[in-house]
Amino acid sequence: MVDGVPVPCFTGEPVAAVLLRLDSMHARRTPSGARRGPHCMIGACFDCLVIADGGPSRRSCLLPVRDGMQITRHPGRRAL
Ligand code: FES
Repeated sequence: MVDGVPVPCFTGEPVAAVLLRLDSMHARRTPSGARRGPHCMIGACFDCLVIADGGPSRRSCLLPVRDGMQITRHPGRRAL
């Protein structure tokens, strides 16, 4: 599930690969609202951070898909 929507994928593939197949290919938003998405795919750029099963700031390019996994893209700045 990505942002509560079921997404077809293969067990073991990187979560970042799944995000890149979506219409909106971003993984997170910066505090200014700009979209950032997977770039290096080797864990170096940190542009692919997601919330995975409630755990914050996981690099999706290093995160293999598991059955029942819940991915949430960072929404950017929180409302106060
Ligand atoms: S794509 Fe660069 S750290 Fe994940």
